[in-house]
Amino acid sequence: MEYSQLIERINAFLETYQADLSYCHGADHARRVARLAMKIGAVENADCQLIEIAALLHDIGNVPLGWSKLALGKDENDFIDFLELYVLPSTDHGELGALIAERFLERLSWPDAQTQHVKQIISEHTKGAEQTTLESRIVSDADKLELLGATWIARAFQRTSAFDRRLGIESVPERFLSGKEILPNALHTETAKKMGTERYRFLVSFSEQFQHELNLET
Ligand SMILES: [Fe+2]
Ligand SMILES: [Fe+2]
Repeated sequence: MEYSQLIERINAFLETYQADLSYCHGADHARRVARLAMKIGAVENADCQLIEIAALLHDIGNVPLGWSKLALGKDENDFIDFLELYVLPSTDHGELGALIAERFLERLSWPDAQTQHVKQIISEHTKGAEQTTLESRIVSDADKLELLGATWIARAFQRTSAFDRRLGIESVPERFLSGKEILPNALHTETAKKMGTERYRFLVSFSEQFQHELNLET
């Protein structure tokens, strides 16, 4: 199978399964991360094909978690315990995503060496994990850039209103708009740090203006 055919198959896979179950982690997020990661990868001389495959599939582990959550009810702790004990090999979406990606690529007879690297990138993108290769650091950087800038503002509002449609725009948690968790330490590559600084400035400025307006100061 050609690389371009694989990308088509992955996009069709995302379209079918990663619709809108986890709110701001749908197929649109995966595609933005992939485009961003490839842009960073081109500057950083990384393997952009590998990056595109892994970035497109990086949040696929949210799909079984989202479905199970919908099916099982509302209590987060019951749901996590139940899944961990009886249903899934892990409740970490990176670990689950790595397994799904491996099976998906195996079924298409994609070369094993690349499949293993994709698996590693996906399992290393979640919170607390260490990114051990350049490509893994780049996918993680691109994913974190989605937590900054205008994109993150849009995602924060999308997420808040998805969880509770009764909430108004002032209900977006302050921490969602602060960007503090991301900069300056979480980004690895110089290219992402530059982009992140710009996105962070915009986020801070939006946040300040928003507060002014809510307080009728402007
Ligand atoms: Fe993720
Ligand atoms: Fe993500």
